[in-house]
Amino acid sequence: MTYHIEPDRGLMNDPNGLIWFKGKYYFFHQWNRFDMNHHYKEWGLFTSTNMIDWTNQGSAILPDRKLDRNGVYSGSSIEHNGEMYLFYTGNVKKNGERKSYQCISTSKNGRTFIKEESVIETPAEFTEHHRDPKVWRGENNWWMVVGAQTKERKGAIALYSSCDLLHWKYENILYDQQLDNMCECPDLFSINGETDILLCCPQVRPEIDDDLTGVSSYAAFISGKFDEKTKKFLPKGSLELLDYGFDFYAPQSFSDHKGRRILVGWMSRMSEIEEYLCPTKQYGYLHCLTLPRVVTLKNGKIQQLPIEEVKQLRKRKQKFTSSQGRFELESGRFELELSRKDCSSDFHLFLRDCSVEIHYYGKKNVLSVTRVNWVANKKETKVKQVQSLSQMSIFSDNSSIEIFVNDGECVFSLRYFTEEENLSVKYAGLQQEGELLYFAF
Ligand code: FRU
Repeated sequence: MTYHIEPDRGLMNDPNGLIWFKGKYYFFHQWNRFDMNHHYKEWGLFTSTNMIDWTNQGSAILPDRKLDRNGVYSGSSIEHNGEMYLFYTGNVKKNGERKSYQCISTSKNGRTFIKEESVIETPAEFTEHHRDPKVWRGENNWWMVVGAQTKERKGAIALYSSCDLLHWKYENILYDQQLDNMCECPDLFSINGETDILLCCPQVRPEIDDDLTGVSSYAAFISGKFDEKTKKFLPKGSLELLDYGFDFYAPQSFSDHKGRRILVGWMSRMSEIEEYLCPTKQYGYLHCLTLPRVVTLKNGKIQQLPIEEVKQLRKRKQKFTSSQGRFELESGRFELELSRKDCSSDFHLFLRDCSVEIHYYGKKNVLSVTRVNWVANKKETKVKQVQSLSQMSIFSDNSSIEIFVNDGECVFSLRYFTEEENLSVKYAGLQQEGELLYFAF
């Protein structure tokens, strides 16, 4: 991979503490720098001025005190009075029992992180599956959401408030519908002051305490309104998937200095065996983050598009206009841009000798994405109802694909593994006035 964030060694998972701070983007992340498993967690850090050229800063927050000794788990950050405040979950395991503490760290320079004394202990109505604090500024105070599980083993999102960012008061359950056993990585933000989007990762998994890799969990969102007076989230509609691909989890958003709401996910939702046999292990590392995406609303619907900065990666362009064709890629790093006038007819795309296939079936209004699974060596498919297909932007980085459909109406993110020399592309169904642009990266 060349333009995605991935670790130089070990295992990377959730994006953490995403922030624009004193002239730089800070993307922290869950990291096991010692091994390619989930037995150790700290926060690693990448920084950038443009979200294209990244510097790997290595370790940022370590599990080096009693309250986080079994893992510095996920969390967020915000800036206040020129200081960065970071919120994370300290994970502690004693005699097989879990304890969680929401911890605070501060930094003036983005390089030295001071752990503060004050911590949040889990309120009595929840189990110790209490983690992933996300903080934002409200009208009169600061708010924090924490992923939770009630004593009845139901998923919930806990709401806290604070006036000084150091002392927090538990308020109530913000939201608890359709959240299965537990909810990881909640996030709440407003778009245009109009609609609030609640992100959550409902987790369906057996009662095995130290398995954080349950694959039936998924990343979802729900639109609605957060009422700061009643301290409740009033949903409009129900939970929807945030991404329709195979590999997307634990997304986090932040607002940058350009006023954009940017979202980044962990580009993995691999099962244990997929992770164990993942081909990148031969290079000593596992997993990566997605491209940063801008989230907006279009006709009341959430829209996700890659940050415009990725256009800087384009090197050479080729244009295809015949109804079907075949061409060779220069490498596995590229962008394809499809635009069509006749949006209701079928369209087919076969990438890298059929390692990934994208099909649009106009009569059924279905878009499908197929890849070859590296464990079973069999094809597997994800589908989404899509009313028409007018546009697609496809980003491949050797072993990942992110497919943005109809100007970001839906996205499919996935890993795929194929031989380097598999570079052929075939397509069919480009009707009159349609075009397919190929940008080599
Ligand atoms: C989500 C998650 C979080 C937790 C972190 C641990 O992938 O399980 O809930 O904080 O990963 O690495």
